[in-house]
Amino acid sequence: MIDGDRTGNMHEPRKLYVKSFGCQMNVYDSHRMADTLAREGFVETQDPAEADLVILNTCHIREKAAEKVYSELGRLRKQKQEAGSDTMIAVAGCVAQAEGAEIMRRAPVVDLVVGPQSYHRLPELLAEARAGKRVVDTEFPAEDKFDHLPAPTRAATRSRGPAAFVTVQEGCDKFCTFCVVPYTRGAEVSRPVAKIMDEAARLVDQGVREISLIGQNVNAFHGAGPDGTSWSLARLMERMAGIKGLARLRYTTSHPRDMDDDLIAAHRDLPQLMPYLHLPVQSGSDRILAAMNRKHGRDDFFAIIEKMRQARPDMALSSDFIVGFPGESEQDFEDTLDLVRKVGFASAYSFKYSPRPGTPAADHAAQVPEEAKAERLAELQRLLEASKAAFDESCRGRTFDILLEKPGRQAGQLIGRSPYLQSVVVNDPPAAIGDLLTVTITDVGPNSLAGIPAEANDTSVSQSPASSALSRPLAAMEA
Ligand code: SAH
Ligand code: SF4
Ligand code: F3S
Repeated sequence: MIDGDRTGNMHEPRKLYVKSFGCQMNVYDSHRMADTLAREGFVETQDPAEADLVILNTCHIREKAAEKVYSELGRLRKQKQEAGSDTMIAVAGCVAQAEGAEIMRRAPVVDLVVGPQSYHRLPELLAEARAGKRVVDTEFPAEDKFDHLPAPTRAATRSRGPAAFVTVQEGCDKFCTFCVVPYTRGAEVSRPVAKIMDEAARLVDQGVREISLIGQNVNAFHGAGPDGTSWSLARLMERMAGIKGLARLRYTTSHPRDMDDDLIAAHRDLPQLMPYLHLPVQSGSDRILAAMNRKHGRDDFFAIIEKMRQARPDMALSSDFIVGFPGESEQDFEDTLDLVRKVGFASAYSFKYSPRPGTPAADHAAQVPEEAKAERLAELQRLLEASKAAFDESCRGRTFDILLEKPGRQAGQLIGRSPYLQSVVVNDPPAAIGDLLTVTITDVGPNSLAGIPAEANDTSVSQSPASSALSRPLAAMEA
């Protein structure tokens, strides 16, 4: 171990602390930045105080998310001052892209601002910053960053667990009137099939069992296939399902407009594809959907759900909602509640509308007052919570495979994920991290479920709550 003594060893590896905000795209990018910097001799640390380089990988989606960066930078400035350290501070991600040099102005502690399309340039940008320059790179360069970002080592992949993300598509051409993504991530670009397949095969070879294909609009994927034609997401996943050792496939985030019949059929035909779909709808009101430029109505959404459930009767859904979009009336909001009641979501994210600079809706005259937004959000969240609780409860007694991902709080416990991304705690499983284990769900808590290996369920299904895996360690989920 070459830890601790910062003065002793000239060859001591430099330490990198990366903090990700926002969506899975940022989680994936953070890993790729760490992989790039590993080649430069950086090892990752979980403690910003001992880092030589801190990267904040930021999110611009709502005002609160964007402002978090500045409070984090304030904390880092204080920590640097108190320790008298020369830690280098970089801001990456969507705030970097959206605000660029403005970050340098507001936060003199920042040495480097780098947008999502320039991560492959990190080593040279860092060298410039080290030479004393304050560097801003928010270009959309012609070269493909993915061609220049090194793959993770086996050790890095192992440390990240058996479920991995692979970016297949970036950017967005949909221009919903509330959203910054088309500006921060640029136009829709799909990666070529062969490169995605190589990356996936390598991850599986390194021990990954589940891959989530990710993109801001993942189901608009249209990557160049090895045959020279453009491949759909369904076709890509069919190919991917052939990778030996890959047990599970997921994809996120999808847009209802791109939920075509092939993709729905893939849920019927590919056993590896999990029966769970995150399909943001935003609103249940046709008027608001039109004003948001979502390009579909509520009945289109119901029709997709219907087809999905026909293709996979055990299909469950999650979604995103925005309340208080400009012009949203009480009736529009009622329509959203009605949609939630009709669909019954297994999980959901919901937000107050946040006006974002440069987006059309931000200039709309009919902004909804803050108190109305807050009331609507609370009401919607009560309904979504009840919907989630009902779904979780419906899993009691069901048997399904979970992918064991990490240790639990108590000795012998492991925590895995159900097909529906629920955390499932198992005591003393006859299996290890990275294994799929068939369990029967015996307990349902607010943040996780507990289960027992299916073959053991005859004897222990009636175990008392006090002895169940859920009795204390729910907090394990937050670890
Ligand atoms: N590409 C995905 C969503 C990406 S952003 C899609 O098309 O649905 C993730 C979620 O953030 C969105 O689904 C939306 O619910 C929310 N969101 C985006 N912009 C927002 C804003 N200005 N205010 C509040 N929520 C917003
Ligand atoms: Fe944003 Fe709409 Fe694109 Fe999703 S589809 S990223 S909400 S503009
Ligand atoms: Fe946020 Fe950028 Fe993702 S704005 S949600 S980090 S694409």
